[in-house]
Amino acid sequence: MKRTLDVLVVGGGIAGMSFATQLADLMGDRPLRIRLLRKTPAQVSCSYAAQGGVAAALHGADSVERHVADTLMVGAGRNDRAVVELVVRDGPALVDGLLGLGARFDADAGGRLHLAREGGHSVARVVHHQDSTGAELVRVLGERMANTSSIALLDGWRAVDLLLSKETAVPRCLGLRALHLGTRTLFDLHADVVVLATGGAGQVYAHTTNPAGATGDGIAMALRARAAVRDMAFVQFHPTALYTGGLGQAFLVSEAVRGAGARLLEYDGSPLMDGKHPMGDLAPRNVVARAIHRAIQRSGQAHVWLDVSPIGMARFAKEFPAIDRRCDELGIVPGRDLVPVAPAAHYLCGGIATDDHGRTGMPGLLAVGECAGSGLHGADRLASNSLLEALVVPRRAAATLAAISGPVKEVKDPESLRQHVASRAPEPIHRALQDLRHAMSTHVGIVRCHDGLRVALRVIAQCERVIAPMRSRRRWSQELFDLRDLVCVARAITEAALAEPESVGTHYLVRGRSRGASAYLPETRPGPAPTFSVPGTDRSLPADRPQHE
Ligand code: SIN
Repeated sequence: MKRTLDVLVVGGGIAGMSFATQLADLMGDRPLRIRLLRKTPAQVSCSYAAQGGVAAALHGADSVERHVADTLMVGAGRNDRAVVELVVRDGPALVDGLLGLGARFDADAGGRLHLAREGGHSVARVVHHQDSTGAELVRVLGERMANTSSIALLDGWRAVDLLLSKETAVPRCLGLRALHLGTRTLFDLHADVVVLATGGAGQVYAHTTNPAGATGDGIAMALRARAAVRDMAFVQFHPTALYTGGLGQAFLVSEAVRGAGARLLEYDGSPLMDGKHPMGDLAPRNVVARAIHRAIQRSGQAHVWLDVSPIGMARFAKEFPAIDRRCDELGIVPGRDLVPVAPAAHYLCGGIATDDHGRTGMPGLLAVGECAGSGLHGADRLASNSLLEALVVPRRAAATLAAISGPVKEVKDPESLRQHVASRAPEPIHRALQDLRHAMSTHVGIVRCHDGLRVALRVIAQCERVIAPMRSRRRWSQELFDLRDLVCVARAITEAALAEPESVGTHYLVRGRSRGASAYLPETRPGPAPTFSVPGTDRSLPADRPQHE
């Protein structure tokens, strides 16, 4: 009988891959089986889309203390200081390790790393690969995984629920119930340890930089298993998603573009951030997103502008090739044309409560990456601290597991429940999903008020009523599982927001009615389609109006 440490990692982004490769390294020759489940290939993950980079205090005027201070300032002091210090301190060694693995970070001819500046950072400290750092790290970690025999990649699986022990007072996680998307069959997969690395829940909102898979699965599974969550009120909106007039996944225009000199302009062409914050265009994200939100409400237009002409067309194309390509597809020439931008839901600062080793408090269950709330981010996340966290905490989690684990038990094959789910959900599920996203975008977005939050809770309760009759196994479908998880996370976000009495970080409360986010939700915006012209300026414009996504 072969006795092996059997680990299930849920999520194929950078946190999940980082955990799996580290554990495999640390376990050496000891028997180990890691199954890494992912819904979609890494190329459609949030990690892959990450443009910015890895924040680390490396050289020049920077220091660990300064990076810690910036993290605490942006997080409005709601961070866990000990976790901040620990994660930030690991940054420089982590970057060295990634270089050792072959990560191609931008550097000058002498090998000195180029550091980008982003919002909330008092100095340039973001190590990056052009404007595609996530893709580069996915490449590096993917190659390592492919060369590691103890890691099996299981593509096309959607985790549905945690399997819990019933006999102990504190339940233990025994594995997962998961849907094999190809055959639409449910399986129970047992393991010694489950590691949730399922990413964020941007799909709770109508307009998000997150891909379709960001449905909050891990957080919802943990909530149903009664694991603790923290900081759920704090949803970061990225100030500058490329505005195309469409809903769904928005393409990001990295904050590093502003770090390189681009300026935000109101719709009428006047500087947007002047006099609003000492850091101007590079103020913390919640400040900039709110200023844009107000500008949009004032003008009645659906977006503001990003003027990248201070960077120059040639330099822009060289340093931001992915953004340049996307603009080109839309007929926008950055530097010649102004780039239309609007905020979009980007990052959940909270999540499943963990310590700095990814431990959740439930035996057998770890959580890492965006689905986890380690306390690093507090009430808003310092830009590019998320990739740092997604690499540092999994490494610590893997080290702890490798240190305590001897051979555990016989490896069990997945147990099929012989339960197939429907290929498509009925119409009420689709309608409920739209209603949920609309309510969350309008009432639980950048600016909130208590009345609006209560309206959102009523919509959430209606969605729960739509889901309830679907509990019967005959009516299960992937879309139902998505809606169930999104509703669960939406409730956690909204209830946490209602419990916050004052504005802090990304949670901004006004008295009376917030007027919601409807200005940049095209479906709710009355009036003509966007024209992409700058009133009162001679700024040349894209020849054609960008296509809806
Ligand atoms: C960006 O490049 O602006 C996004 C980076 C991040 O979210 O940390």
